[in-house]
Amino acid sequence: MAVILGIESSCDETSASICIDGEIKSNIIASQAIHAKYGGVVPELASRVHLQNIIPTVDQAIQQAKIHKNDIDAVAFTRGPGLLGALLVGTSFAKSFALARQIPLIEINHMQAHILAHFIEEPKPRFPFLCLTVSGGHTQIVLVNDFFEMELLGKTLDDAAGEAFDKTAKILKLPYPGGPLVDQYAKQGDAFAFKLPEPQIPGLDFSFSGLKTAILYMVQAEERKNPNFLNERLADVCASVQQRIVTILLNKLASASLQTGVKQIAIAGGVSANSGLRRQLTELGLRNGWDVFVPKLEYCTDNAAMIAIAGYKKYLRKDFVEQDVAPLARMHF
Ligand code: KG4
Ligand code: ZN
Repeated sequence: MAVILGIESSCDETSASICIDGEIKSNIIASQAIHAKYGGVVPELASRVHLQNIIPTVDQAIQQAKIHKNDIDAVAFTRGPGLLGALLVGTSFAKSFALARQIPLIEINHMQAHILAHFIEEPKPRFPFLCLTVSGGHTQIVLVNDFFEMELLGKTLDDAAGEAFDKTAKILKLPYPGGPLVDQYAKQGDAFAFKLPEPQIPGLDFSFSGLKTAILYMVQAEERKNPNFLNERLADVCASVQQRIVTILLNKLASASLQTGVKQIAIAGGVSANSGLRRQLTELGLRNGWDVFVPKLEYCTDNAAMIAIAGYKKYLRKDFVEQDVAPLARMHF
């Protein structure tokens, strides 16, 4: 039997999870409400709240899994990418726990873990598959050849898709994090009410910074005509913005499938919680004969279950790290 403790602390969620023989037994997530009043994640505050949360979160994960801490066989933690101070809390905790208990330590790449969340539950994709990984910090199209053999086919040249949602929300005077709110308002709006440009970026790369500017100018122009514009048309603006972001993402994903001939298609990361993206990907998949894989909502945004499942795969390979390991703000596959 292999019992893995997974720890995630790369941004503003402190999370701990227990995985037993590849099965997730608990996934505790402590979100940090403090950032909302600043309109974005404040790195120094994130580190301090991680420090307060880490021990109670791990305790709760152990309790919910109905195990004792002495039953844990290895600790997997997010080494990067993320906020350095935030990563340092999870990394230091994991190292201390492993040292005290004399058990192996396993480093995990956060972006790989988002993709490996697809191996928590059925149906699981077959290799090779394509994964569109869309979060607050990244937008990537990844060719996944094996659990830890991943090839980056395309990435954003500026803002991430999650940032595009959050920055739009800010323009629309919605609180942080705005992505889920834009999704909510979009449900009542007309997705074709406002025309927004599709950036012409060659290959499989993305760009979202022009879209943000286009939205700002559009809102400013409309507000000059009608100062109450945002109140009256919020749902239509959200629906139009969401429609544009989703088509940018899906057009590139379709190109990647054509180029590689791969028809196993997955999405991962916080933005994969977006209802428009989930629905339109499913429809596109039906038209194109793809097998589509969409993670359960709790495994889309940051969580430690994805770290624990990735840790379990590395545990089977005896892929361990030493105590001198340090977190990395930037980390490639
Ligand atoms: O993966 P994640 O939890 O954290 C990072 O690693 O960045 O992703 C967070 C991002 C935020 O930008 C948030 O606004 C966005 O995911 N997000 C959404 C939705 N839920 C989360 N964006 C659009 N629609 C949603 N339903
Ligand atoms: Zn993430």
